[in-house]
Amino acid sequence: MDLRLEIAKILESKEIGMSVDEILLSLETPPNKDMGDFAFPCFRLAKTMRKAPNMIAEDLVSSIDAEFIKEVKNVGPYVNFYIDNEFLAKLTIEEILSKKERYGSSEMGKGKSVVIDYSSTNIAKPFHIGHIRSTVQGDALKRIFRFLGYDTYGINYLGDYGTQFGILLAAYEKWGDKDTINQDPIKELLKLYVAYNELAEEDESYMDVARAWFRKLEAEDEKALEIWNWFKEISLKEFDRVYKMLDIEFDSYDGEYYHSKFVPEVVEILEKENLLELSEDAQIVRLDEFDMPPAIILKRDGSSTYITRDIATAMKRMENYNFYKNIYVVATQQSLHFKQLKKVVDKMGFDWANKIEHVAFGMVSLTDGTLSTRHGRVVFLEDVLNKSIEQTLDIIEKRNPNLENKEQVAKQVGIGAIKFQELFNNRIKDYVFSWDEVLNFDGETGPYVQYSHARANSLVNRYGEDIDANIDYSILSTPEENELIMNLYKTPDVIRVAMEKLEPSMITRAVVEVSKSFNKFYNTVNILNSSKEEQKARMALVESTRITIKLLLNLLGIQAPEKM
Ligand code: ARG
Repeated sequence: MDLRLEIAKILESKEIGMSVDEILLSLETPPNKDMGDFAFPCFRLAKTMRKAPNMIAEDLVSSIDAEFIKEVKNVGPYVNFYIDNEFLAKLTIEEILSKKERYGSSEMGKGKSVVIDYSSTNIAKPFHIGHIRSTVQGDALKRIFRFLGYDTYGINYLGDYGTQFGILLAAYEKWGDKDTINQDPIKELLKLYVAYNELAEEDESYMDVARAWFRKLEAEDEKALEIWNWFKEISLKEFDRVYKMLDIEFDSYDGEYYHSKFVPEVVEILEKENLLELSEDAQIVRLDEFDMPPAIILKRDGSSTYITRDIATAMKRMENYNFYKNIYVVATQQSLHFKQLKKVVDKMGFDWANKIEHVAFGMVSLTDGTLSTRHGRVVFLEDVLNKSIEQTLDIIEKRNPNLENKEQVAKQVGIGAIKFQELFNNRIKDYVFSWDEVLNFDGETGPYVQYSHARANSLVNRYGEDIDANIDYSILSTPEENELIMNLYKTPDVIRVAMEKLEPSMITRAVVEVSKSFNKFYNTVNILNSSKEEQKARMALVESTRITIKLLLNLLGIQAPEKM
C-alpha cells in the first residue's frame, strides 16, 4: 500500500480539478514532524476553484476521513496529513517480515534491458583513485535496476585503442624490457608512456614513429597486435585484482578496439544519409544547429575517433541488447561528447537516440591537491583500498580485539567505507577524499551504518526467540519508534526514485536516516528489558530494521558484517 497514492486518490475524489498524477507531484513531505507526514498545498487551486487557498484547505480538511489517517489539519493553505502510527507500523512491519531482503523490490523493469557502461578503464594506465567514481556508482546503479526487475548488463568499455597505444608501442620498442614490465606492469608502462611523451615534446619526429605504430595496430600487424594483446592481458590482471576487492563484476569487457571494426558501418550510414562533410581533410558531421562543435568522424589519415567508436558501440548495443536505456557513467568532462553522440545517432535516424543517458559526476580530489595522471603523480585505487583495510584492522584491534574473523570484517568495513563515502554525495558534486571522514564510526559513514546493522543483529541473537509480525502494534508508540517506522516505510519509494533519478546517493542518505533513527530508538526504548509482549513487538521492529539496512547496503554494493 502506497500512502501517498492513497492520499492522492482521496484528494482527487474531492473534485479539485487535478489528476492523481498531478496531485502526487505536488504532495510534499513537511520539514518537520509536527506538521504531519504529508502536506498538500492548495495555492494552485485558487484560480480554478475561485476561492482563497486557506478556505480550500479548510473545506478539504473537514471532508477527509480514512482508516490510515489519524488526523488532518490545515495550516494556512496547506492540508497536513498525520498518518495513524499503529496502522503504519502494521503495514510496514508485515511487509518487511514477509518480503525479507526483497522488501522494496519490484517487477516494474520486467522484460526491459538496461546497459550500464561503467568503470571503463584504460589499458596500460593506472587504475587510480579517480576511477572509484564511475566504478562504484555504475555498480550501484546496476544493482538498483536489477532489484527493480530490469535485465542489467554491466559493461567495462575498455580504453584499449587510440594513438596513445602507438606511443606505448614505440616506447616499448625503444626501451622496453619484458621482465621489468612483468614485475610491475602498470607502473612500468606508465613510465614508458611518460618518458616517450617527454621525448616527443622535444622532438616531433618521435610522434611520427608513434603514429606509424598506431597505424600498424589498426592494420592488425602481427607484431603490433602481439605486444598490444600482452599489454592488455597484464593490465586486466591488475584491474581484476581491484574489481575482486571491490566485489564488482562485468558482463562484458568489449572495448574500443573490439568496436573499431564496426566503424565502416557507421561511415556507410553517415554517407548514405548525406551527413558527412569534408573539413580540413577530416570527415565531420556538423552540429551547428545545436550550437555544438562538429563531431569528427574520420581524421585526415582516415583513422576513427573516440566518438566514431562510441557510435559504432551504441549501434551494436542496440542490436545485442535491445536496450530500454543505454547508460554511461562518465565524468562531466565528457558531457559534450555524449551530447554529440546522441545528436549524431539521432541524425542517423535511430529512434533509440533518446535512450542514451549520460550519468555524469564531478571530480574527486585528495586533500593534498587534485589528481594528475599526465605526469605520473598518481594514487592507485588498490593502495587506497589496502590502506583503508589496514586502518580498519587497527581500529578493530583497539575497539574489539576479540572479534572473530577480524581480517574478513576489516575488508568488509574498509572497502565499504570507501564505497560509502563515494556514494554519499550527490554525484554531480566534486568532493575531496578525506581519511578522517571515511573511517569515522560516528559520522554519516559506512562504518556507522554497518555498526548499526551489527547492533541490530546482535539484539536478534540475544533475543533468541522467533520473530514474526503477529504483535501488538499499539506498543510501538514512542516518537522514536514512529520515526524509525516512517523511515522503513519510505524505503521502497526511495529505491524507485533513486533509480529514476539515477542517483544512488539517495539510497546512501536513506540508510543513514534509518540507522540514526534506529540508534535513537535503541538508546531511549527498553528493548529486551521489558515485558514479553513489548519485547516481541520491539524485536519485530529491530528485525525489520536489520533487514532494511542490509538490503540497502547491498544495493550500494556494501557488505553488512554480522558482528563488528
Ligand atoms: N575510457 C574512457 C576514459 O577513461 C571512458 C569511457 C566511457 N565510455 C564510453 N563509452 N565512452 O575516459
